[in-house]
Parts: sequence; structure tokens; C-alpha cells
Amino acid sequence: MPKTLIEPFRIKSIEPIKMTTRAQREQLLEAARLNVFLLRAEDVLIDWLTDSGTGAMSSRQWGAVMEGDESYAGARSFYRLERVVQELTGMAHFVPTHQGRAAEKVLFGAVCERGQLVPNNCHFDTTRANLEYLGVEAQDLVIAEGLQPSLVHPFKGNIDLARVAALLETEGARIPFGMLTVTNNTGGGQPVSMANIRDYAALLKRHGKPLVMDVCRFAENAMFIKMREPGYAQVSIRAIVQEMFSYADGCTMSAKKDGMVNMGGFIALRDDRWIEPVRNGLILAEGFPTYGGLAGRDLEALAVGLEEGIDEDYLRYRLRTAEYLGERLEAAGVGFMKPTGGHAVYIDARTVLPQMPVAQYPAWALCNALYLEGGIRGVEVGSVMFGKRLADGTETFHAMELVRLAFPRRMYTQSHFDYAAEVIAEVKAKAAAIRGVRITKQPRLLRHFTAEFAWAS
Ligand code: F0G
Repeated sequence: MPKTLIEPFRIKSIEPIKMTTRAQREQLLEAARLNVFLLRAEDVLIDWLTDSGTGAMSSRQWGAVMEGDESYAGARSFYRLERVVQELTGMAHFVPTHQGRAAEKVLFGAVCERGQLVPNNCHFDTTRANLEYLGVEAQDLVIAEGLQPSLVHPFKGNIDLARVAALLETEGARIPFGMLTVTNNTGGGQPVSMANIRDYAALLKRHGKPLVMDVCRFAENAMFIKMREPGYAQVSIRAIVQEMFSYADGCTMSAKKDGMVNMGGFIALRDDRWIEPVRNGLILAEGFPTYGGLAGRDLEALAVGLEEGIDEDYLRYRLRTAEYLGERLEAAGVGFMKPTGGHAVYIDARTVLPQMPVAQYPAWALCNALYLEGGIRGVEVGSVMFGKRLADGTETFHAMELVRLAFPRRMYTQSHFDYAAEVIAEVKAKAAAIRGVRITKQPRLLRHFTAEFAWAS
């Protein structure tokens, strides 16, 4: 057997990448106030800002788009997608939304009350924000191994069951449901084991609490279970997915990830307990329950995408791609969160810029350097994203300085990854010349999206 794992698709429609020189990129980054979020996408060679809604649809999906039934109520496309979701999740109720955070907002709005508390392995930003907006406390209880970047563990996304059990004892009355995010994006795209899902669900059940899963990357999680968890090597991805869902009472989904579409999301619920307020909230915010903020053609593309997203050859290639980039980084002496996750590689900026003071935002500086050196756009996950300027003008900093490179699905080929590995190695070799930054202008909330910077020295 040849060792090279090829992309299990060929390319029918292409989108040219505009080449730029370093001198041009220097000007473009200056004009973007040293913030890659403010660049125009066409000035980026390799756009690894996010894996969300950025992938390539298949010819089957584009074909399905033409079959979209755009009826306001009772569209055929709704029933087609409903059947696919019911079959994968085993849940009776399917409610479409325009993306993941809308699913969160509608579900939490329907079932949460001020003063409650929701445990999760790690809440994604929008999940936490939607809970906190309602006055609900969001607690992250990932296992200790999940917080150590260089430690290798097969399921770093697992939730710490002892801490959940203790919380249920002391705060049970405040907990409306437990959540679990698969894979754990915030923790590096790390998977949750089937045993952990099963035991967490059982623990919640003993306390009469339902389990709601955030399933954006359920297919990647299933592939990790197949590759790493004893007893699953011979089980199909579909059966693993069905078992994962069998332990949950409900889920929120951003279909922009493992749904393989550019826009979409949904809520699925096993029984009737929440469906009425959810449907009412949906009508208020998203639309009639058979379209929920999406066009009929979007529903069709998602019905096909959910099936393509659980294809084993595709998933094997996808996880291997991230692992491959990790191997190249290892060889270049660049640190990253280990093992590599499903959708992204998180570079530890401190291993490239050990001398740079945190007040000069090393992960932000590395992000800028990747763009300048090779036109690569990643996202800083460090003190710009999570730090704060306090009222007295002093700054708080984050414990880790990471740069996330997140990979759109079916979009970039191996040579793009080889190129990126070379660029990263080159940046490391020239690290002494990388300049830190200072913030010149920032909004009060979510500052990384729009803040402006100048060179620190
Ligand atoms: N949950 C998780 C785990 C996510 O990663 C995201 C989005 C959402 C919920 C919200 O979904 O964007 O469709 O509203 N993550 C993207 C990212 C934005 O870049 O990681 P959405």
C-alpha cells in the first residue's frame, strides 16, 4: 500500500488565489492596522482564520441546491433534511436555524432561567455569551490533561466526571441540563470518548438532568473514537455517530462545520418537553419551523452534506492532514497543542517568541508574521482575545499565547500544507526580527475583531 494518503476527491471548480509579494503584504497589513481580521480576504493566500462555513461543497450538493423547495411552510426540502437528521441523531424533533449561535439562543431562551448554572467540557465563546446574556453561569470542567498543551492524551476533550458529580451535589438545583462540546474547539479541537459521553449522560440522568450536546464537529469526534477507543475500530462512522447521539436528549449544531455547508444550523430534541417554547422562540427570531432562517436550497445542501461529512475516507484524510502539519512543525521545533485536533492546529507562540514580553502580544505578533512571510491568515487565541484593559488603564493577560490555524473542509491540498509548513519554519528561523505590537484603539467587548495596533518597537 502506498503511504501517501491522498485527498479523496478531485477538483471540478477552482477559485484562483491572488499571489502577493512581501512588500505588498507589508502595506496591506499596515492598512489593516496590523489586524488580520481587517484584511480583505482576496489579499490572503491561505485563509485559515476558521473552518466555519468556509469549505467547498461537492457537485452533489450543488446539484441538490437546484432542488430546493422555497415554499414558506411545509417545504419538501425540510422533510428531506428532517429525515437525515432523525436518522443520524435518533431524535424526534428537528428545528433548523441559520447557524449555531442562533440554535443556542433559541434553545437557551426557551429553557433557561436567570441564576442557573450549566456545566460543559468547554463552552464555545457564543455558547458562553448566550448563557451569560440570560444570567446563567457557564462552567468549564474539561479534564486537567485538556489544559496542558504539550501533553498527549487520546481524549483531551473529556469532561471531568468527578467535578461534575461534586457540582451536581452542591449546585444541582441550579442546573437545568448538562452540556458537552464535541469536539472541544476551545481546548484545541480535542475529542470526547464514547465512554465519557456515556458516563456523563448516566451521571446527569441519576440527578434527573438532560444532556444537550454542542455537535458542530460530531463527525470528526466519531472518527477519533474509531481510531483511538478500544472496541470501535470495526464499527462504522454512522453507527458511532448514532451511538454518540443516543446518550443525548438534545443538541445544538452549527452545520457550517461538519454539516459541510457555508451556512446553516439546527436544534434536535429527543422528546416533547422543550419543543413548544423552542418552536415559539424560533418563529420570533429565525422563521417558520420548516425553514428556520434558511432557504430551501440550504436545507437540501445540508441534507447531502451531513451524509458526506461522515464518509470515512474523507474523515481519515481530514484528521491526517492536521496530524501531518503537526509532524512538520515538530521537525521545525515549533510547539503546538498535542495531539493535533480535528479541525485545526494551535501553534504555541511562546515556543517561537520566548523572549517577547506578553505585553507585546506574542501570539498576535506571530499571526502577523505568518501573514507577512507567506500570506497565511490564522487567528490569535491569546491575550488580545482573552485579556482586558481595566478601568485604570492596566492590562490583564491570558495564560496561553496560541495561534489557531483552522482548516476549511475539502479546500486546500497537501501542497498548501507543505507551503504553510515551510513558511512557519522560516518565521521561526527569523524570529529575532519579529516585532511585537501595542493596541492603539479597542472596543469594549470582543476586541480582537476590530482593535487597531502599532508596532511596539
Ligand atoms: N459551538 C462551537 C463549538 C463552535 O466552534 C462554534 C463556532 C459555535 C458553537 C457557533 O456556531 O458560528 O455557526 O454560530 N465556531 C467558529 C470557529 C466561529 O471559528 O470556531 P456559529
